[in-house]
Amino acid sequence: MNVPMIELNDGNRVPQLGYGVFQVDPDKTEKLVAEALRQGIRHIDTAAIYGNEEGVGRAIAASGIPRHELFITTKLWNDSQLNAAEALDTSLGKLGLDYVDLYLIHWPVPADGNYVEAWKQLIELREAGKAKSIGVSNFLPEHLDQLEMNTDVTPAVNQIELHPYFQQWKDIDAARAHGIKVEAWGPLGQGKTDIFEQPEITDPAEAHGVSPAQVIIRWHLQNGTIVFPKTATPERIRENFDVFGFELSEDEMAGITSLDRGEEGRGGAHPAEMDAK
Ligand SMILES: NC(=O)c1ccc[n+]([C@@H]2O[C@H](COP(=O)([O-])OP(=O)(O)OC[C@H]3O[C@@H](n4cnc5c(N)ncnc54)[C@H](OP(=O)(O)O)[C@@H]3O)[C@@H](O)[C@H]2O)c1
Repeated sequence: MNVPMIELNDGNRVPQLGYGVFQVDPDKTEKLVAEALRQGIRHIDTAAIYGNEEGVGRAIAASGIPRHELFITTKLWNDSQLNAAEALDTSLGKLGLDYVDLYLIHWPVPADGNYVEAWKQLIELREAGKAKSIGVSNFLPEHLDQLEMNTDVTPAVNQIELHPYFQQWKDIDAARAHGIKVEAWGPLGQGKTDIFEQPEITDPAEAHGVSPAQVIIRWHLQNGTIVFPKTATPERIRENFDVFGFELSEDEMAGITSLDRGEEGRGGAHPAEMDAK
């Protein structure tokens, strides 16, 4: 399977399609990640707060896949923004790795006022070789501006909520203007919406003989976004990865883009308000 590689602003490359493990039961993570790796997926997105880094690590160790062929992301949780070195060491221990390919600040938590300091710590971790690339998640344009004003390292990625009901084009443009690649979380709307029933999705699905989920994943890929849908259903891992045998037309792409609901389409927390510890 030839998954396109996206080049980051630090020269490293990330497979554009991966597998995310938010809300994957820690007891089932090893088996599911092993299945994803067996299907050819080489990019896994986890986080300290998901509680399943150990399962990811066990699947990696058992796979025998050379480390350099894998792209592993984890994230710094909100309660550890001033202790990033210790938090990353804990994650690396659980993952059984010497380094992660990408380490992200999970949320800016602007109320705490620590994200610029956290970013400075991530820069040191990259210099120490513990994270090949560093980036952020759920950062609004104003938070990216703060990093730019206070440090000389631009995040490699910003991982934000993105799906057909919530397309965030302004934030995508802001990230791209900084040379930051965009990663989509909740790419299928987290299974919380009726998106799979919309004709703008079901018509192309029928026309190409694929599923609504495959159409949406393909839409993200054709938009240039990095994407890692989650599923705890083994057959869907194969389905979600099998998206390179068809292409959406310009009209089909535009139809899906017309589904944007702006702020009403947001399914997760607002980054300015999220302050969970
Ligand atoms: N940075 C952040 O703050 C943040 C927040 C959320 C997520 N993320 C990352 O983004 C990844 C993806 O987002 P997400 O897990 O929230 O949501 P998602 O990938 O948009 O949606 C997952 C839901 O879609 C269902 N699904 C998956 N494939 C399907 C298919 N082929 N057909 C029908 N339904 C399907 C899953 O059901 P089943 O599992 O039952 O199959 C699950 O209910 C996460 O795993 C995580 O790595 C990051």
